Amino acid sequence: MEVKNLLVTGGCGFIGSNFVRYILSREDFSGRVINVDKLTYAGNPENLAGIEEAFPGRYVFLRVDICDAEAMEKIFSEFEIDAVCHFAAESHVDRSIKRPESFIQTNIVGTFNLLEAAKKAGDSFKLFHHISTDEVYGSLGPTGFFTEETPYRPNSPYSASKAASDHLVRAYHETYGLPTTISNCSNNYGPYQFPEKLIPLMILNALEGRPLPVYGDGKNVRDWLYVVDHCEAIWTIMKEGRRGDTYNVGGNCERENITIVELICDLLDEKFPCGTSRRSLITFVPDRPGHDRRYAIDFSKIRRELGWSPRESFESGLKKTINWYVENRAWTERVRSGEYQAWIKEHYG
Ligand code: NAD
Ligand code: DAU
Repeated sequence: MEVKNLLVTGGCGFIGSNFVRYILSREDFSGRVINVDKLTYAGNPENLAGIEEAFPGRYVFLRVDICDAEAMEKIFSEFEIDAVCHFAAESHVDRSIKRPESFIQTNIVGTFNLLEAAKKAGDSFKLFHHISTDEVYGSLGPTGFFTEETPYRPNSPYSASKAASDHLVRAYHETYGLPTTISNCSNNYGPYQFPEKLIPLMILNALEGRPLPVYGDGKNVRDWLYVVDHCEAIWTIMKEGRRGDTYNVGGNCERENITIVELICDLLDEKFPCGTSRRSLITFVPDRPGHDRRYAIDFSKIRRELGWSPRESFESGLKKTINWYVENRAWTERVRSGEYQAWIKEHYG
C-alpha cells in the first residue's frame, strides 16, 4: 500500500505523537502526514517539537475538531487524503464517568464525520484504520483472554463510546465497501502520556513525595504494552491487515495495579534514595465506579497472520519511561500547570 497523504487524527496526544514520529522515520513510508488535532487538554504540539524541521515538506499540522464535518470534508479534498489513521478521542475513563458528553461527541460523532468524508473521497481512498481499545470487551474473570470473537460488553461511558465507533467503522466496510481495519489494544505506557493515567501519575507523585492513590484493593489487572510496540502493530496492520478485519494487540504482560505502583516506588528508591521507602506513600482510595477487574489480550491472530509481537519487556520499558519523566520535568510541569494551554491560545487563538 503506497500512501501519499496520510491523515492522522489526534497526532498531538500520547500514542498519536509517538506514531507520527515512528511513521515518518520509516523507510517504507515516503508520504506526507496531515495531523488534525483539536488540542484538548490532552493534545500538546510540544510532543512533536522539531518534527517539521526533521522531515521537511512531510508534516502538516491543522488545529481542527473532527466534530466539524464541513472542515473535515474540506481537508480530505484539499490535501487529497488517501488513508486515515484515527487516534483522536477522549481517552480517560475517570473523566468519562464525571462528564461523558465530549466522549459521545468526539468518539462517536467525530468518527462518523471521518467515515463520511472517507466515503466521499472515492476510489483513490485506500484505508481507514481505526484505533480502538480492549475495554470494548468488558471485564474478564481470573482466567481467559479477549479474542477478536469476544462479544462487546463495554462498562464505562468511554468504552461504550469506543464500542459505538468500532461498530460504525465495521458498518461502513460492510455497507459501503470502505477499506477499513480496526485494532483493539491493551493499556499503553511510555513517553508523552498525560500524567492522569496510572503509570505517569504514580511516577510524578512518587518523585514529589505525594500520595499514590490506588483504587479499591489494587488487584485489578491490566495488560501493558510499550507505546512504540503499539505503533509498530498499527503500521503492520495498515500495510498487511485484511480489509474489514479487526486485530487484537496486547503486551502479554498482565500486572496487578499494586504490583506496578510498588515497582515504580522501588525503581525510584534505587535511582533517587530519599531516606524512606516510597511504598509508604501508597494510599488505597474508593474504587472507580464500574471498574473492570481484569483485561488480558489474546494477540495470536496478529502474530500468526502478520508476524507482529511485542519487542519491549515491561521491566526495560518501565525503566525507559521513568527516565523519560525524570528527564522531562519541564514538559510535565507545563502540561500539569496548564502553561502549555496558554501557549496554544497565544499561537492558535
Ligand atoms: P490522548 O488523550 O493522549 O490523546 C487524544 C488526542 O486526541 C489529543 O491530542 C486530543 O487533543 C485529540 N482530540 C480529542 N478530541 C478531539 C477532537 N474532537 N478533534 C480532534 N482531536 C481531538 O489519547 P491516547 O492515549 O493517545 O489514545 C489515542 C487513541 O488510542 C484513542 O482513540 C484511545 O481510545 C486509543 N487507545 C488508547 C490506549 C491507551 O492505553 N492510552 C489503549 C488502547 C487504545
Ligand atoms: O485498556 C486500554 C485502555 O487503557 C485505554 O482504552 C484507555 O484510553 C486508557 O486510559 C487505559 O484505561 P485504564 O482505565 O485501564 O487506564 P488508567 O491509567 O486510568 O488506569 C489503569 C488502572 O489503574 C485501572 O485499573 C485504574 C487504576 N488506577 C488509575 C488511576 C489513574 C488507580 O488505581 N489509581 C489511579 O490514580
